[in-house]
Amino acid sequence: MIRKIEQKDYKKIYELGSMLHENFEDTYNFDELLTKSYFHGLVYEEQGVVLGFILYSVLEHMIDILDIVVDPQKRHQKIGSLLLDEVITNAHKEDKFYLEVNVNNQIAIDMYEKFGFKKIHTRKKYYGEDDAYVMERVNEDE
Ligand SMILES: CC(C)(COP(=O)(O)OP(=O)(O)OC[C@H]1O[C@@H](n2cnc3c(N)ncnc32)[C@H](O)[C@@H]1OP(=O)(O)O)[C@@H](O)C(=O)NCCC(=O)NCCS
Repeated sequence: MIRKIEQKDYKKIYELGSMLHENFEDTYNFDELLTKSYFHGLVYEEQGVVLGFILYSVLEHMIDILDIVVDPQKRHQKIGSLLLDEVITNAHKEDKFYLEVNVNNQIAIDMYEKFGFKKIHTRKKYYGEDDAYVMERVNEDE
């Protein structure tokens, strides 16, 4: 099941997020962020265990996918797709989606492309020595 982040999830989210960025825990103060109307977070949970999460912000019809991580033991079982789909399905038709992804993270790039994201820009050395693609998704009829 997919639901909003609750306080009891922070520990597991920090554990999963730290696999993605060293400074993940310092970046996200959930108690503060979740009081902001623009900040959102969802977890995917199975039998009471959190197996993945997605963080995003919504401002003026621009949705930024900030982070998405699935438990390494549970990858390639559609959990990431379900989380992303939940955000896209609940968005407004005119909303545009943006994200940054490491140019070497082909698995994530493939997933985003399957959801209609397109590379629109490269940010040099965005992740230390690594570049990032900025990807955008707009509704087809926009
Ligand atoms: C990226 C990530 C969230 C994807 O979540 P997931 O639940 O494993 O992905 P899904 O099972 O929904 O797969 C969606 C698509 O991603 C790609 N993919 C996922 N796992 C893959 C793997 N092990 N090998 C190759 N492609 C893979 C495939 O294109 C897949 O589509 P398919 O099922 O038709 O093959 C997950 O791999 C992850 O947590 N990675 C580490 C964190 C990260 O890099 N986050 C993105 C930061 S921008």
